[in-house]
Amino acid sequence: MKKNSKIKNIAILCSGGDAPGMNAAIRALTRTAIFKGYSVFGIKRGYSGLLEGSFIELNLRSVANIIQKGGTILKTSRCPQFFEKEYRIEASHILRRNKIDTLIVIGGEGSYTGAYLLEKETGFPVVCLPGTIDNDIVGTDYTIGFDTAVNTALESIDRIRDTASAHDRVFLVEVMGRTCGEIAQRVGIAGGAETIIVPEDKNKITMSVLNNENKILNTAISLQNLKTLSEKLASDLKKSQAKGKMSSIVIVAESGKPEFTYQIARNLKKFHKIDSRVVILGHVQRGGTPSAMDRYLASLMGYEAIETLHQGKSNHSIALIQNKITAIPLKSSIGQHKWNDQKLLTVSKILSI
Ligand code: F6P
Repeated sequence: MKKNSKIKNIAILCSGGDAPGMNAAIRALTRTAIFKGYSVFGIKRGYSGLLEGSFIELNLRSVANIIQKGGTILKTSRCPQFFEKEYRIEASHILRRNKIDTLIVIGGEGSYTGAYLLEKETGFPVVCLPGTIDNDIVGTDYTIGFDTAVNTALESIDRIRDTASAHDRVFLVEVMGRTCGEIAQRVGIAGGAETIIVPEDKNKITMSVLNNENKILNTAISLQNLKTLSEKLASDLKKSQAKGKMSSIVIVAESGKPEFTYQIARNLKKFHKIDSRVVILGHVQRGGTPSAMDRYLASLMGYEAIETLHQGKSNHSIALIQNKITAIPLKSSIGQHKWNDQKLLTVSKILSI
């Protein structure tokens, strides 16, 4: 197919939390775009760098030797200004002044919203790639970085299990994901956790518990009501102990509430005399060499993003749907939240009995 004559220059930025595989995406975008006859510019430090006019030209060699590297060579940032329309309008002027014809954004839920509003309000064409460890974007089965983060967390959980077992202890392991429970559910099942606690909506969490009739119930509890949460968790842990399980791993999704996991541990001790240890895995989950899955996903998604522009489409995002990489309207991923899959909680509980 001939080059899209409306496009000469493409700009790429990474936004929000970095994710392993972002570099593989930058490489794929740059090389595919140059192959198809476009010029490529990287924007440093996400939307903040865009507002500062921080552009650098990328060539085939500037993306050499980065496929295996975590982080992002373009750097990233959180940019509160981009929540405001006047800054998005300013961004469109900066892009046009720099003769950019299309912007490619690699990021998560918040970055998608910024990109969507930029095109909606100013007509500036955008295409998005899902790059976040949280896997919180509706419309794609996987985001770039999720698989690596899950594997990184899992490696730590396996180690924690050794010491938990040696001491017959309860460990509360907090994983990232903001208000999305995808990482928690995935590592909980893969790590054989006894309980997984995930956000249910903005104000509630859910966990599976075994009731007195040996039935599994997915219970939603208000985030304000940590005493009830600790009560249910304590009763569940005591049932496990009665069956001879002397150590337990509880995976707690960070849930957007500071000190959440420490508060649960304090309540377990204070009201139920259960001694536990808290491990916050934190930013370790964001770093490191991207897994084969994330490199593969990023490479194919990068290719597909350029192909999408080449076909004259913007206002799209690239998604993995049932093992197929495809472009979907950006709007379908905006303003929605990926909540937990109740079935996964039930399954994990059955498997940990
Ligand atoms: O969005 C990715 C993420 O790692 C979340 O899981 C986490 O809540 C957040 O970023 C942490 O952000 P920051 O690095 O700005 O503290």
